[in-house]
Amino acid sequence: MITKVLQDKIHSKTLHVGVIGLGYVGLPLAVEFARHGIRVTGIEKDTDKVAKLNRGENYILDVDTTELSDLVAHGLLSATTDYSVVSQLDAISICVPTPLNKTGDPDISYIISARDEVIKHLRPGTVIVLESTTYPGTTEEIVAPAFEEAGFKVGEDIYIAFSPERIDPGNRTYETHNTPKVIGGVTPKCLEMASAVYGLIIEKVVPVSSTSAAELAKLLENTFRSINIGLVNELAIMCHLLGVDVWEVIKAAATKPFGFMPFYPGPGLGGHCIPIDPIYLSWKLKTMNYRARFIELASEINTHMPEYVVTRIGLALNDHERSIKGSKILVLGVAYKRNIDDSRESPALDIIELLTERGADVQYHDPFIPRIAIRQKELESVELSDDLLAAQHAVVIATDHTELNYEWIVNQASLVVDTRNATEKLGRLKNVVKL
Ligand SMILES: NC(=O)c1ccc[n+]([C@@H]2O[C@H](COP(=O)([O-])OP(=O)(O)OC[C@H]3O[C@@H](n4cnc5c(N)ncnc54)[C@H](O)[C@@H]3O)[C@@H](O)[C@H]2O)c1
Repeated sequence: MITKVLQDKIHSKTLHVGVIGLGYVGLPLAVEFARHGIRVTGIEKDTDKVAKLNRGENYILDVDTTELSDLVAHGLLSATTDYSVVSQLDAISICVPTPLNKTGDPDISYIISARDEVIKHLRPGTVIVLESTTYPGTTEEIVAPAFEEAGFKVGEDIYIAFSPERIDPGNRTYETHNTPKVIGGVTPKCLEMASAVYGLIIEKVVPVSSTSAAELAKLLENTFRSINIGLVNELAIMCHLLGVDVWEVIKAAATKPFGFMPFYPGPGLGGHCIPIDPIYLSWKLKTMNYRARFIELASEINTHMPEYVVTRIGLALNDHERSIKGSKILVLGVAYKRNIDDSRESPALDIIELLTERGADVQYHDPFIPRIAIRQKELESVELSDDLLAAQHAVVIATDHTELNYEWIVNQASLVVDTRNATEKLGRLKNVVKL
């Protein structure tokens, strides 16, 4: 009976969806449901985000501002800090953060807190899908048992599934609706119900046989990236020693039409996913007495990259008979990747910190990020000008935002350290040092 009521609501799109955590993942997901005519309430603990959304204001670059305000105006999308709305919801997606704690271990406290708040207000007949990236076993060992203890029979009264989010901020080709969605249920019925909900908004749902398989699929995707980036970062170090252009080598290798996929070096990993997710997997394995050696090695190489870049900046300045100490250095781009406004875990922040520690006078420019805090000290993005560029002893391209005019920058600056090959089209230039 419960299942039938829910199925009818799904088929008629009259279900009421809740999205917990309206950040980079949750807000685009909430908008996707709402744009399909499904009523969505976001539950978000940040009162600023709640107020903004309810005023129809956007705060995530990937979300279309006009669309968001239209959906709010039409009553399809709203937000609250109050979990009591859970009692009215038919499906809930949990999109809260899963960072690392101070000792570098997984911090799933946000999941636990959201889980406990949901339990307080839940009614039978609800689908609950965890989207936050986490270690294999979280849904079945940490999430589902708490609902059972509260008296719900999973797979009969409520339906619990895990479905990893794959959003790629800044990607205009693959957005929420056309990125296939992997789903694993605690029971086959859980899988069926969660797939039916997501099938309303996502073109291709990929069912897997367990929540652990779905959790692990996400970790494999991001571990694959982390390891391949670690490989090319080490290749960049080796190429420098060998006097070979790493970018040319990768470009040449990428002409192989099969069996090779290009990854590119850079100043290190950033964002909420690639530097963190593999640690969720290696941590879990550590509890089972197994060392995930590939993950550890890639993490070691990638984490060392900002230090390596600073060493290369020091060597480049040395060739100009200067030391890092006392040099004016401008860092271009502090977002963790191009054309986005997210600086979480960005290696550019480490580079700024290391250069400052070594006595440089560091400024930064990022068209997407007006201010950053480094060790409690706030820095503001400076405006680029001929004079500013000419006054620098080194300009470091840490993130290759496409809207910057690199030809002009290279023409004005005496020394450019390019960690992203942003100056590729300009050919080999005497004042440009590449990673
Ligand atoms: N950002 C990405 O590109 C990306 C991609 C794929 C997966 N993920 C994963 O998705 C999850 C969310 O990431 P994000 O980037 O959206 O994080 P985020 O920090 O941008 O957003 C999370 C939101 O949850 C809110 N929140 C925290 N605890 C809450 C609670 N108990 N109740 C209600 N709201 C709460 C926070 O205030 C914040 O607004 C993480 O597990 C992350 O690893 C992120």
